[in-house]
Formats: sequence, structure tokens, C-alpha cells
Amino acid sequence: KRQANGYSNGFNGWGGDWMGWIVLFLIFGMFGWGGMGGFGWGGGMSGASPYMTSAVTQADLQRGFDNQSVMNKLNGLESGLCDGFYAMNTGMLENPITQDNLATLERYGFTVIPSESGVLACKDVGSGRLPKEEVLLEHILHTIARPKDLAGVRVAVTAGPTQEALDPVRYLTNHSTGKMGYALARAAAMRGAEVTLIHGQTALPPVKFTTDVPVTSAQQMYEAVTSRFDTTDVLIMAAAVADYRPTTVADDKIKKKEGDLSIPVERTEDILGTIGPRKTHQFLCGFSMETRDLVENSSAKLAKKNLDMVVANNLKVAGAGFGVDTNVVTFITPDGTRELPLMSKADVADAILDEILRRRAK
Ligand code: CTP
Repeated sequence: KRQANGYSNGFNGWGGDWMGWIVLFLIFGMFGWGGMGGFGWGGGMSGASPYMTSAVTQADLQRGFDNQSVMNKLNGLESGLCDGFYAMNTGMLENPITQDNLATLERYGFTVIPSESGVLACKDVGSGRLPKEEVLLEHILHTIARPKDLAGVRVAVTAGPTQEALDPVRYLTNHSTGKMGYALARAAAMRGAEVTLIHGQTALPPVKFTTDVPVTSAQQMYEAVTSRFDTTDVLIMAAAVADYRPTTVADDKIKKKEGDLSIPVERTEDILGTIGPRKTHQFLCGFSMETRDLVENSSAKLAKKNLDMVVANNLKVAGAGFGVDTNVVTFITPDGTRELPLMSKADVADAILDEILRRRAK
């Protein structure tokens, strides 16, 4: 990674013909998925091997007769266990021969991470720039950081608030930031699930390795969830869906008048309430945010909406409110309740997925 950065910041060594070089990182675990529980950076880097190769070498790689030490490693790889990153001049990248070579590597199961656009080492502007460190890191983590215990599971997560329009200027919404739902989507993707993230408007960056479905209103979220329901195995409704919307949406901005204003509202579709009774193979996990009688109120939702699990939290408990990076949750299932301590939302996400895995396996 250090070498790659040096390159993208103007490295011009390697025999003077730097444009002929591709930085290809081949990262793979030597431990196999089964032995990767608790795999972290300390152990991770010892099992991850970066390689730099020239465009010629890359071409050779896909033909399978390059430098013996590289090929010995590559031959030991299972497809899907290898990420390749590259950086090169735009002209070289767009050359059909390079494109063919990259496509061939992908066909053999290598994950080729696309380059970014921007100022290149030679000061040209175009595609071929090495992706940012955080992008590379996310790819590496996705490949090696976690056991893929959710491989093949189709997980739909909803996140964030909905917005219910009143006129072209105003809407009704709530304080949800989407952090819990996004953490769930990321954790599920890292664990190998096929994730669809259906979300209202948030300020969060998209979650890599998920299908991103942005929506605005409760009705749009209802349609996004129900249209995918047959092909969903696990639905986690972390979104704060509005229960009411204005009965009519004014075409033009509502002008103020003297005196008070009343806005008639109507119920939105209860997404979980509608699909709960219709579930076949799906595992349904709802969220419940309360300010009092947490267990009683949340247990009522479990039964009423025919859910398999409710993740409940009390807005008044420190560290459990909107916008923070922590949560204090209680799992409510048909078997009883389990209260978890204050945890980061990332850890809560993993605990939820662990519980879902356990319950699905029953
Ligand atoms: N939910 C939903 N459709 C809605 C509203 C909420 O599917 N129209 C989901 C939420 O995503 C959450 C769960 O239902 O997973 C929350 O249940 P709900 O009974 O709607 O909670 P509250 O609105 O907080 O309940 P109440 O007003 O009864 O306190």
C-alpha cells in the first residue's frame, strides 16, 4: 500500500518506464475461510501479499506463464480470494489489450478494483489513478477480514428516515440518521451476504458491496421492500418509517395566513405489519424505539406484526439515541428477552446478525 501511494504521488522509478507499470495488489488469505474467525489486521497482513507487476507482467499473469514466484502464489489461489488494484496512464488503461487482460483476470475469478479518475503521476488528468486508501482498505477487508458466514443469504436492510411531503418546500420527517441500518448493511456485506440497502435520505456515504436503493417516502419504501420480498431471506427494518403523511400534497408552496394552521394527516402503509402475515421463508427483524415500557411495547409489536425478532431501544438511555455511534439494545424474540450492554453500532450490528444466524439455524 505504501508503495502504491508513492507511485500515485509521482513515483517515476522502476527502470524509468513507469508508465509501463501497473500496481497490482493480490491480497489473499492463506488460512481459508473456516479458520478466519476474529481475523484482524495483525494476523491479516501476514497472510496478505501485495504484488506489483508491469502491464506486460499482468498480461502474462492472465496467460499463466509469468515470473515463477508470482505464478506459484497465483496458482494456489481460489477464485474470489484475490483483489487486484492497478494504476497506470489513461492511454495505457484504455488500450484494448489492457482491457482484454483485465477482463480475462476477472473471468478467472480475480476481483479487479477499478481505478479512479484524477491527476495522474505524469500530471495528465484521466482514469487510471490508484483508488483512495479507504477504498482499497474496504476491498481488502471485504475479501479477508471476516468469515463469510452469511454467504448466499439475501439480506434487505432498511435505514434512515422517510420524508412525507406537504408541499414542494416542506415535509414531515424524524431524527433518524441511518447509522444503525448502515452499520447492519456493512456488517452483513462483510460477512458475505447479498445485501440490499433501502434507505431514506441520509448524510452517510454509500455502503460498498451492497445494492443501494434510495427512497424518499414511506410509500416508496413500502414498494421497494415488498417488490423484493419474495427474493429476500432476511429483512431487517431499521428505518424510522413515518406512520402518518399529509393527506394531500399541495402543488404550490403553502402561503402563510393569519392564525393557526392544521394539517390533516393519514396513516402510511405499515410495511412490516403488511408483510409479516405474508412471510414464507423470510426472517423478519423489526426495530422498536420507545421512551417507556420498552419490553411490553416491543413484545406487542413482535406478536402484532408476526416478527421473528425485535431490536428494542429506549431513547432516554444514555448512548442509545439518534445520531450517536453507540446503542443499548434489547433483543426480543418468542423465546424471551436479552439485554445487551452499551456497544458501538458496528458491534450491535454484528450481535444482531449473530442472533439471526442462530435463530435461522434452529
Ligand atoms: N415500520 C414499518 N412500517 C411503518 C412504520 C414502521 O414497517 N409504516 C417498522 C419500523 O421500521 C420498525 C417497526 O416497524 O422496524 C416499528 O414498529 P412500529 O409499531 O411502527 O413502531 P412505532 O411507530 O414506534 O410504534 P408506536 O407508534 O405504536 O409506538
